[in-house]
Amino acid sequence: MQLDPQDLKSIEIYKILTALVSPRPIALVTTVDRQGRINAAPFSFFNAFGANPPVLAFAPGDKEPGVPKDTARNIRETGQFVVNLVDEDIAQAMHDTSAPLSSGENELLFAGLSSVPSHLVKPPRVSESPASFECDSWGILEIGFNRIVIGVVKYMHIRDGLLDAQTFRMLDNEYKPIGRMQGPGVYCHSTERFDLDITGK
Ligand SMILES: Cc1cc2nc3c(=O)[nH]c(=O)nc-3n(C[C@H](O)[C@H](O)[C@H](O)COP(=O)(O)O)c2cc1C
Repeated sequence: MQLDPQDLKSIEIYKILTALVSPRPIALVTTVDRQGRINAAPFSFFNAFGANPPVLAFAPGDKEPGVPKDTARNIRETGQFVVNLVDEDIAQAMHDTSAPLSSGENELLFAGLSSVPSHLVKPPRVSESPASFECDSWGILEIGFNRIVIGVVKYMHIRDGLLDAQTFRMLDNEYKPIGRMQGPGVYCHSTERFDLDITGK
């Protein structure tokens, strides 16, 4: 196929990109609104973009043109969020947090997850998550109806037993993040791994 995105509807472009740019890691993002009410939602337009400083970004599309999702609105108003990573144990619960509850309703409670206070930021982290990154918002880029939220990591929580405490290398098969393939409802495991030698070594 040869396609010019200008000839396609945005839902078609979404299907193409999400089918082919995969698997994607998933950020279960927690925020609070101005009244301090907790919000949680998953985002797979998500990745890490650098280590110095540590930068994470994710992209909530608008609910409708010009109307941000609760996560994006809360970050615009409070400047903080927590990225909670998602493993096999919390896959279903993460999926359930994507339900479009009304603003101010806590998706974590709805999905059977719990939260604990963060170290530096107001939004709590998800207790069941294997790792959580407390972030300050560096800025939000608005490109059409996409918002790209860029965060600088200020504090990290990593469950014991996932990384070697001296080398920070992964311990074999202890961390089981899931990936998102395609759009709604399609995921993959990450447990079948392989190593390659670095060329020239
Ligand atoms: C695994 C998964 C990944 C998702 N990734 C995104 C994404 O990258 N961008 C987006 O706008 N919505 C994404 N969604 C949908 C949002 O989670 C959903 O719209 C949610 O209700 C937004 O909540 P909020 O209004 O509380 O921010 C995803 C849903 C799931 C289940």
